[in-house]
Amino acid sequence: MKRTEGILVWDPEVRLFHWVTAISFFVAYFTEDLLTPHVWAGYVVLALVIFRILWGFIGSEHARFRDFTYPPSAVLSNLKEIVLAHPRRYLGHSPAGGAMVLLLLLFLLATTVTGVMLYGAGEHAGPLASAMSGISKRALKEPHELLANVTLALVMLHIVGVVAASVMHKENLARAMLTGRKCP
Ligand code: HEM
Repeated sequence: MKRTEGILVWDPEVRLFHWVTAISFFVAYFTEDLLTPHVWAGYVVLALVIFRILWGFIGSEHARFRDFTYPPSAVLSNLKEIVLAHPRRYLGHSPAGGAMVLLLLLFLLATTVTGVMLYGAGEHAGPLASAMSGISKRALKEPHELLANVTLALVMLHIVGVVAASVMHKENLARAMLTGRKCP
């Protein structure tokens, strides 16, 4: 498929959100010991997640939460189809893919918010510095690290899911997240 063929499924905001979030998440994850890049990459992720939540209500058709939020029974039957290697094809996120998107957003949010809290408590810096004064750094360090590691595990699962769906449907989903276009 050429760059201009197919239907526009992912609007420019979703694509920009996706790739800047992906890069910033890895920068933040691997700069744990370098406070300045770690904190700034974390702020970028937090700002993008807040933007994406708003965009889920006002963005284009397939960017909206209502387009990819399915009941648990639909997610389970989609997972069953994936295990049996004949999943139905969806133009936007599939039920299982949509559930993963919601989980990723939730864990990215929890990881970055606990990061800002930890920065306030430990370094007396950032927007929550005064709100976190007197709170021990130790009480926040472990939850923040745990959330970051669970998010990394979800990201890995997300990438495995994208590769598996690309193989099963014989379509390059990563390229679609770059061009925004998919075959109808
Ligand atoms: C090489 C790495 C990655 C690839 C190839 C990739 C690919 C994709 C693709 C193809 C989709 C659309 C899935 C669908 O068709 O339903 C997607 C969605 C998404 N990915 Fe990734 N991804 C990668 C890394 C990441 C990372 C590191 C994060 C988070 C830190 C992430 C978070 C998301 C989110 C939140 C969505 C939903 C997009 C939206 O609707 O706004 N991805 N990804």
